[in-house]
Amino acid sequence: MNRLRGRRAVITGSGSGIGRASAIRFANEGASVLVVGRSLENTHQTVEMVRAAGGIAVAMVTDASVESNVADIVARCIAEFGGLDVFFSNIAIPGTNTPLLEQTVQEWEDVYRINTISCFLAVKHAGAHMVAQGSGSIILTSSAASLRANAGAISYSASKAAVNSLAQCAANAFAGSNVRVNAILPGLVETQMTRKVFEQARAKGIESKIGHVTPLKRAGQPEEIAAMAAFLASDDASFIDGQCFAVDGGVSSTHPFGRIAL
Ligand SMILES: NC(=O)c1ccc[n+]([C@@H]2O[C@H](COP(=O)([O-])OP(=O)(O)OC[C@H]3O[C@@H](n4cnc5c(N)ncnc54)[C@H](O)[C@@H]3O)[C@@H](O)[C@H]2O)c1
Repeated sequence: MNRLRGRRAVITGSGSGIGRASAIRFANEGASVLVVGRSLENTHQTVEMVRAAGGIAVAMVTDASVESNVADIVARCIAEFGGLDVFFSNIAIPGTNTPLLEQTVQEWEDVYRINTISCFLAVKHAGAHMVAQGSGSIILTSSAASLRANAGAISYSASKAAVNSLAQCAANAFAGSNVRVNAILPGLVETQMTRKVFEQARAKGIESKIGHVTPLKRAGQPEEIAAMAAFLASDDASFIDGQCFAVDGGVSSTHPFGRIAL
């Protein structure tokens, strides 16, 4: 498919995991991709992977939760590729499982800065360019953990719930501009962020339990989230705005302990 032919895209957190899979998918569909991450080695690896598959990508190493850096990311994409059509804001940190009553403001500020404020900055700086241009797609990575408790740290869940609201509010703030803002809510996917869960399950020989509360009975692959991101980036999603899409094997459709075995 060539749905993104000629599109200029930024993907933050694309040195690994869902972001890397999305960079490869976007480039395969014809986009030029600015691969943004914190690690020089990882971002360059992603760029190499994209180029090896015949795609166009450039690496940028920066902290995508700092306002001046996000302004620089937008400017760099325009300088490298001649414009900006898609901004996929995808960075996050998981927070800690410290008991709620012992959590600190510092932890919450750190988690909100990287998980939520990064998305606000993407909306603000990519949005300014796209509104002036009269088109664009902004995609925010939220999480199925934003919908209910117990799928991640409390600060993480709350920070991602704010991302869902941001997608709705920003879409409305940009009403009439032809700039779309949507959020993706992945379920459990094996990446750098969740590696420990998978490694521990494998070590205990209970890998088959991973995803067992999910109707599809498995965890997801980064490519399955990338597929949704590519769709939302493309004109196939031209009438989709202000929405939050769970891509989670169905886990958010159910109460995990209420299912009757048939
Ligand atoms: N893996 C899952 O099960 C899962 C589930 C729900 C949501 N998500 C979300 O998917 C997104 C991608 O995560 P992933 O699972 O691919 O994990 P990942 O750790 O592989 O990817 C996150 C990337 O973001 C980068 N990053 C973090 N802070 C940054 C910063 N300040 N500036 C620049 N880069 C930064 C990291 O270096 C890393 O490459 C995250 O928003 C995460 O919350 C993941």
